[in-house]
Amino acid sequence: MAHRGWSGIAPENTLSSIKLALEEPKIHAIEIDIQLTKDGVPIVFHDKILDRTTNGTGALKNKTLAELKALDAGSWFDEQFAGEEIPTLEEVLQLVNGQKPLYIELKQVGDLYLGLELKTIELIRRYGLEDQCSLISFDHKSLQTCMKIAPEISRTLVMMGSPLLLAEQVNEIQATSVSMYAEYIDQLMIDSLVRNGTEIVIWTVDDPAEADRIASYGADVLFTSNRPDQLWTREAAM
Ligand code: G3P
Ligand code: CA
Repeated sequence: MAHRGWSGIAPENTLSSIKLALEEPKIHAIEIDIQLTKDGVPIVFHDKILDRTTNGTGALKNKTLAELKALDAGSWFDEQFAGEEIPTLEEVLQLVNGQKPLYIELKQVGDLYLGLELKTIELIRRYGLEDQCSLISFDHKSLQTCMKIAPEISRTLVMMGSPLLLAEQVNEIQATSVSMYAEYIDQLMIDSLVRNGTEIVIWTVDDPAEADRIASYGADVLFTSNRPDQLWTREAAM
């Protein structure tokens, strides 16, 4: 799964990074992050503040769509991407259009983005992409909201840390997948997820040796990676 689009070779969460991931047949799925603009539009962006990946400053939630669209989200990565815009979720849905599974991470923290879940789901439904999208969150409550509004759209619970309540939480929201932080993965955890019948996603793996360590536990897993090209040569050799 290409993390924030193919973010190792193009600016993260931009149409360029997503187009590259769509074109590469060895990339199976795409992950993006979304937040809400000041005027309530779901927009594709990772950080809470604009400074690292644009020529803007300050909190994204205090900017309107028009203000965000005027920013350059490409030059920080490489001058060849100068002028790249921050895409809206709608633009990304139109681009991906079911060609590959799209994992949409809602950057919800408590009530920071009121209505983010509903607005995201409305867009997915408008484009008829319920079967091609999965809603991701670290926030269990946000996924509960998603489940109530749209039980038909799959949910991926992201975990960081050793998840003592993992199976219980996965089952409570009927998550189809669980996305785990690579550092905490061990044989015991893999075995319990396999027993539970949950699809296993592991983030973020760029190092082939780390991929080999996890593969040695013997389960089918989907790696989220900024450099999937560094992993598939390994996959072919195994
Ligand atoms: O999907 C899991 C992973 O993307 C979460 O971390 O900070 O890269 O959004 P982050
Ligand atoms: Ca993410």
